[in-house]
Amino acid sequence: MSALLEVRDLQVHFPIGARLLRPPAGVVRAVDGVSLSIAEGEVLAVVGESGCGKTTLARAVLGLTKPTGGVIRFRGGDVALQSTAERNAYYRQVQMVFQDPFDSLNPRKTVLQTLAQPLRIHSIVPAGEFRAEATRLLELVGLSPAALYLDRYPHQFSGGQRQRICIARALAVRPSLIVADEPVSALDISIRAQILTLLRRLQQELGLSYLFITHDLGVVRSLCDRVVVMYLGRVVEEGRTEDIFAGPRHPYTNALLAACPLPDPVRARARKRATLTGDVPSPVNPPSGCRFHPRCPVAREICGRDEPAAREFGPGHRSACHFAAEADTWERPAWQLAVTAE
Ligand SMILES: Nc1ncnc2c1ncn2[C@@H]1O[C@H](COP(=O)(O)OP(=O)(O)OP(=O)(O)O)[C@@H](O)[C@H]1O
Ligand SMILES: [Mg+2]
Repeated sequence: MSALLEVRDLQVHFPIGARLLRPPAGVVRAVDGVSLSIAEGEVLAVVGESGCGKTTLARAVLGLTKPTGGVIRFRGGDVALQSTAERNAYYRQVQMVFQDPFDSLNPRKTVLQTLAQPLRIHSIVPAGEFRAEATRLLELVGLSPAALYLDRYPHQFSGGQRQRICIARALAVRPSLIVADEPVSALDISIRAQILTLLRRLQQELGLSYLFITHDLGVVRSLCDRVVVMYLGRVVEEGRTEDIFAGPRHPYTNALLAACPLPDPVRARARKRATLTGDVPSPVNPPSGCRFHPRCPVAREICGRDEPAAREFGPGHRSACHFAAEADTWERPAWQLAVTAE
């Protein structure tokens, strides 16, 4: 698999407290040196607590926020150096699905008008074929028969149906990469599984790649090929989903897995409770050394002093922890051992 998207040392910093003639009082290091890549047809999860920079990363990839530094390459081409025509082609190839499907649909436009807009802007099909193409798209996302839905407005749909419309709109321009930022977390629990099944089916049928942002590790396990774990603007661990779940090499990933709700109540009662304590420090003044050290159960003196470099512990499995080699001795949540044995 070749790299479809490659992000190298991406930084997105936001100056805060700047006024006319007064310099900024500080800088929010929302994304602070993130590297990752997504292969053709691959589903990459980005996980991490609230505020670690996931949405900022997604916005930078989509061209909605200008990076402070670093490089974004799409099929090998540096997006920042592209001509306007090339960049427009990139924006067509990379589409988004957001958390709140109501917010992201124009309430005054019918479904047909919503779907016709990208078809027109990117000249996907001639105007005479908009209705037929919109019908095909709605049926692709499971809104069938499409004739029932085409002339309705967003408020006439349920949350799950609205998210299907958002997915259809993203697919209208025939993208290769979908950036999905918490696409099911605003939906009713009963609807989530349906939308996830749809996303998985579309990914397989159309050979799509996903950059999939989520809090839900259950979703990661069922949908994603690889995982990138972020903490305070940095990547602390990455690897294939099965490797991350069977043997995390960063204490932060270990703690996230321990905090993950379990589908099985017997195992949920049996396991040890989460080890993540304390608040996430501010990205304005990140801790010295390893950013996780003030909350880390295995931190020692070096952790507050030296920033750990990422090291490899298996094919594509990297961890930025001084003590990653000792991961086998860490306390594992009981259920995780069960996962390993499955
Ligand atoms: N435009 C902005 N100006 C200043 N700070 C910002 C801006 N956008 C984001 N931030 C800050 O950057 C950090 C990362 O925010 P971001 O929204 O990327 O986090 P997130 O991982 O998506 O969180 P969540 O899981 O809650 O969605 C936060 O501290 C946030 O307050
Ligand atoms: Mg977010």
